[in-house]
Amino acid sequence: MRPKAPHHGARPEQGKVAVSGASGAVGSVSVELLAKLGFEVVAISGKAADSLKSLGAAEVVGRDALAEDKKPMLKPAFANAVDTVGGTPLAELLKQILPGGSVSCCGLVAGPQLQTTVLPFILRGVNLLGVDSVEIPLAEKETVWDKFAGDWKCPKAEASAKRIGRADLDSALKAFLEGESAGKIVLDHAI
Ligand SMILES: NC(=O)c1ccc[n+]([C@@H]2O[C@H](COP(=O)([O-])OP(=O)(O)OC[C@H]3O[C@@H](n4cnc5c(N)ncnc54)[C@H](OP(=O)(O)O)[C@@H]3O)[C@@H](O)[C@H]2O)c1
Repeated sequence: MRPKAPHHGARPEQGKVAVSGASGAVGSVSVELLAKLGFEVVAISGKAADSLKSLGAAEVVGRDALAEDKKPMLKPAFANAVDTVGGTPLAELLKQILPGGSVSCCGLVAGPQLQTTVLPFILRGVNLLGVDSVEIPLAEKETVWDKFAGDWKCPKAEASAKRIGRADLDSALKAFLEGESAGKIVLDHAI
C-alpha cells in the first residue's frame, strides 16, 4: 500500500518561501494560497510583477535568480520552496534553501533532468519532496479538494482563469511551450 504523503511542517515564521514558475497555473495558486496562509512569498517569474503582487507575493524576482551557477552551494535565501519548473532552476533552488527546509517538486517545464550534488542534502538537511497529484489515493485528493473549496479558496487565481474554445487551442499550446502562458486555461467545448 502506498504510504501517505508526509507533512514537513513548513511554517511562515521559518522565513521566505519561493515559488518558481509563479505566473503559471500551479504557481499562481501556490502564490495566492501561501500568502493567504501568512507566508512571505517570493515569486520567481519571467513575467511582469504586478499580477503576482496582486496575488499576494511580497517580492517578485526574475528567472535569473535561478540561473546556472558553477558554485556547488549558494547563500541560503529561502526557508522553503514550491518548484513547478524542474531542470536547472530546481538545482539552483536547492542550493539556496536554509538548513532543514523543503522544496516540493511537481513540474518539468524547464526540463526533466536534475543535475545536482548531494551537498544541499548532507550539509543543510534540505528535503526534496515529490508531488504526484494523479496516482495518490482518492481520499487524499478529497481532503485537498475540500480545503480548496473552503479555507484554501484562491479567488484571485480562479478569477484570472482564461476560458478558450478549440479554435484557440493551437495558440494556447504554443504559449505553454514558449513559457508565455499565465494562469489557468480552461478548454470550454461549448465555445
Ligand atoms: N506532479 C503533479 O501532480 C502535477 C500537477 C499539475 C501540474 N504538473 C506539472 O507542473 C508544471 C507546471 O504546470 P502549470 O500548469 O502551472 O504550467 P504553466 O501554466 O505552463 O506554468 C508554467 C510556468 O513556468 C514558467 N516557465 C515556463 N517555461 C519555463 C522555462 N523554460 N524555464 C523556467 N520557467 C519556465 C512560466 O512562469 P513564469 O513566466 O512566471 O516564470 C510558466 O507560466 C508542468 O510541468 C505540469 O506538467 C504536475
